[in-house]
Amino acid sequence: MSGGIAAYKACHLVRDLKEAGDDVRVVPTPSALNFVGAATFEALSGHPVSTTVFDAVDEVQHVRVGQEADAVVIAPATADVMARLVAGRADDLLTATVLVAQCPVIVVPAMHTEMWWNPATQANVRTLRERGVIVLEPAHGRLTGRDTGPGRLPEPDQIAELTRAVLDGADLTPDWAGRRVLITAGGTQENLDPVRFLGNRSSGRQGFALAEIAAHRGAQVTIVAGATDDLPTPSGATVEKVTSAREMAEVVGRLAPEMDVIIMAAAVADFRPVSQADAKMKKGHDDAALQLLELVENPDILATTVQQRREGLVPAETTIVGFAAETGDGQTSALEYAQAKLTRKGCDLLMANEVGEGRVFGQTRNSGWLLTADGAVTEVPDGSKHVVAAAILSAVDDLRN
Ligand code: CTP
Repeated sequence: MSGGIAAYKACHLVRDLKEAGDDVRVVPTPSALNFVGAATFEALSGHPVSTTVFDAVDEVQHVRVGQEADAVVIAPATADVMARLVAGRADDLLTATVLVAQCPVIVVPAMHTEMWWNPATQANVRTLRERGVIVLEPAHGRLTGRDTGPGRLPEPDQIAELTRAVLDGADLTPDWAGRRVLITAGGTQENLDPVRFLGNRSSGRQGFALAEIAAHRGAQVTIVAGATDDLPTPSGATVEKVTSAREMAEVVGRLAPEMDVIIMAAAVADFRPVSQADAKMKKGHDDAALQLLELVENPDILATTVQQRREGLVPAETTIVGFAAETGDGQTSALEYAQAKLTRKGCDLLMANEVGEGRVFGQTRNSGWLLTADGAVTEVPDGSKHVVAAAILSAVDDLRN
C-alpha cells in the first residue's frame, strides 16, 4: 500500500484475502503509515510490517518478499508510487519488492480525478500496462473532499475477487481498449400491480463479473441491469437500470447498433401478465385475476438482436453471446438443450450451465460449457464468476480473431 487516504480500505482487503486462505504480507510505503499504523496491518496479516530495505537485512527481505509472492497488489496506488514504478526506483521496500517480483503485479490506483487525468499519470499507466502490469480502473464516485469523479479505490471485496481471479489464471490483458461492450444482467420483474411482480432468482453476479473483467481489460462497458443483489458498479462501467423485459429490450435495441460485443447474461422473464392493475389487487375483490394469471409472451431480446444483425441494423462484426440456464430431464441433458438453444437463437457463443437446487443463481461460483455455432463444446470448470467471465471473454477473443 502507498500513502493515500484509501489506505484504510486496505485493512478490509487484507482481511478478505486472509479469509479466502491467502498468506498476506503487508508492505506499506513510509507515507502509507501516516494513514494506518503498522500495528493494524501486523495484527490483520499476522506478519511483521516494515517499510524499508534496512529491516531484517539478514533475511535479505528486499528480495525475498517479492520472490516468494504469487501476486503483488498495490492498493491504494498513488500517482507517486506509479511514477516510481515506471522509473524502476527501489527506494523503499515496496518498490524494491515490485522490481524483484516475477508474479502478476496488480496496481489499484486511488487519487483525485485531476491527478488521475494528469498526462503524466496517464502516461505512467500506459507504460505500466505495456510492461504487463495489471493497472485496474479506479472507481467513479465521492472522493475525499466534496468532489466526485474517477479516482476512488474499488471496494476491497472487488479487489480481492479480481486478485483471486488473476491467481486462478484469469486474463486481464488490457487489449479490449476501444471495444464497446453491452452486458445484460440480473432478472426482469413483470408487474402485476403496484406491489406485486413476477420475478426470478438471478443475482446479476455473472453479468457484473463480466462487466468488471471487460472494463479492466480496457473496454467501454454498459450494463443493462434488471433486479440484482446489492452489487457495486464495476469500475469503468456504467449501469442502466431497467425493470421489465420490455424496458430491457428497448434499452438494448437502442444501444446494440453501437456495440462490438453484446453479452446477454440477464434472466429475462419469458412471459408477463396480460394487464397491470393500477391499484393493488385485493383479496375478495380481485379474486378471479389473482387466481388465474393470464400471461402474454415477452420479446426475446437475444433472438431479436441476432435478427437485427441479419438485417444490418447491428453491425455484422458485432459478437453476440447468450446464456442458457438449463436443467436436464429423463430424455434430454442440459447440454443438449443448450445446443438446441444456440441454434434456435442464432448467437455466436453460448455459455450454458445447469441450474436448480441452489446451483448458480445467487452463488459466487459457476461452471458449464461454452458452445459455438460450429458445434464445438468447451468445458468451463468450476470457478468464481470472475474466472468464468474471463473464460467467456477469452472465447470471444478466439471468435473475433
Ligand atoms: N433471453 C432474452 N430474452 C428473453 C428470454 C431470454 O434475451 N425473452 C436471453 C437470455 O438473456 C439468455 C438467453 O436468451 O442469454 C437464454 O435464456 P433462457 O431463459 O435460457 O432462454 P429461453 O428462450 O427463455 O428458453 P427456455 O424455453 O429454456 O426458457
